[in-house]
Amino acid sequence: MKALVLSGGKGTRLRPITHTGAKQLVPVANRPILSYVIDNIINVGIKEIGIIISPETGEEIKTAIGDGSSSGVNITYITQSEPKGLAHTVVVAREFLDDEPFVMYLGDNLLGCGIDGFIDRFTETDSDAAILLKPVDNPSSFGIAEVSKDGRILSLEEKPKKPKSNLALVGVYIFSPEIHRAIDAIKPSPRGELEITDAIQVLVSEGRPVQSHMVETWWLDTGKKDDLLEANTTVLDDWIKRDLSGEIDEASQITGRVNIAKGAVIVNSVLRGPIVVGRDAVIKDSFIGPFTSVGPATKVNKSVIEHCVILEGAEIDHVKRMEDSLIGRGAKVKKCHDKHEALRLLIGDDSVVEI
Ligand code: G1P
Repeated sequence: MKALVLSGGKGTRLRPITHTGAKQLVPVANRPILSYVIDNIINVGIKEIGIIISPETGEEIKTAIGDGSSSGVNITYITQSEPKGLAHTVVVAREFLDDEPFVMYLGDNLLGCGIDGFIDRFTETDSDAAILLKPVDNPSSFGIAEVSKDGRILSLEEKPKKPKSNLALVGVYIFSPEIHRAIDAIKPSPRGELEITDAIQVLVSEGRPVQSHMVETWWLDTGKKDDLLEANTTVLDDWIKRDLSGEIDEASQITGRVNIAKGAVIVNSVLRGPIVVGRDAVIKDSFIGPFTSVGPATKVNKSVIEHCVILEGAEIDHVKRMEDSLIGRGAKVKKCHDKHEALRLLIGDDSVVEI
């Protein structure tokens, strides 16, 4: 079995955080989302991984992920020159996929579990497709499945205006080579894309074996800002282990699951986990509360922060209290020291500041 990881697109939905970068590389608990995806694939023993990239962000993805040799796998990069849909990526990757079954995994989806059980059931049942489902509150934003009481898929629809259920297709699919024929039979959707949901519907209509499974753990589609904070909270809560490799002075107090990378420096500060602190970060005279990721090479001075994601190279200085915030790479948040305390803002497109 091979894997096809989708890591194209322009990341416009995460602006301004991914204005210039790939949304799949935005870090959750200081690791790119895409790294969790690749880990999940490597953990089931798949050795051949194709990654779909776009001309805009492809180089960045290649630099971050590499050729897989350090993990004993082969990574092939495949460029999709225009974002023409998920099913179109399968067409573009036809030669790489050959006539083998494959897992298709969206590079901005985070799952609270591995995919081994899902793959085992697909192989045992000799299916042509397997999908994962999870109930959601906003079904019109997803591919939606109508499922009978005994678990059979009756129909699938991409972003329906009038959803027939609240069961969303999670961004992990398994296919036999039959999917190529099904994709040949579909036409672009109203949003102008070849939808993988429509191709699976072709298999369902033909009465071919398509399996569905419920995801029992959490699932996050990190394509939006609120989801990113939620993803950070969830991953810190579930996966962070205490590891104090950085330099911590005697005046500091570190409580709970706090992971401080080598090269980070903590001076006269209180840290209450779960928290991650990246390499070369400097935290001084501050309080860092639970569910915070402090990125590499950041500076936090005389500030109180909680439930925040601070990306690489950002600086937080004399900030009384900051919560539920996402601070982009190299951004600065600091107190104004002059008498009339005016706000002085230099804010990128689509930013949000709450005062
Ligand atoms: C895509 C799929 C959709 C699926 C979702 C999961 O949506 O088209 O069926 O439910 O991923 O993340 P998109 O991210 O393109 O809006």
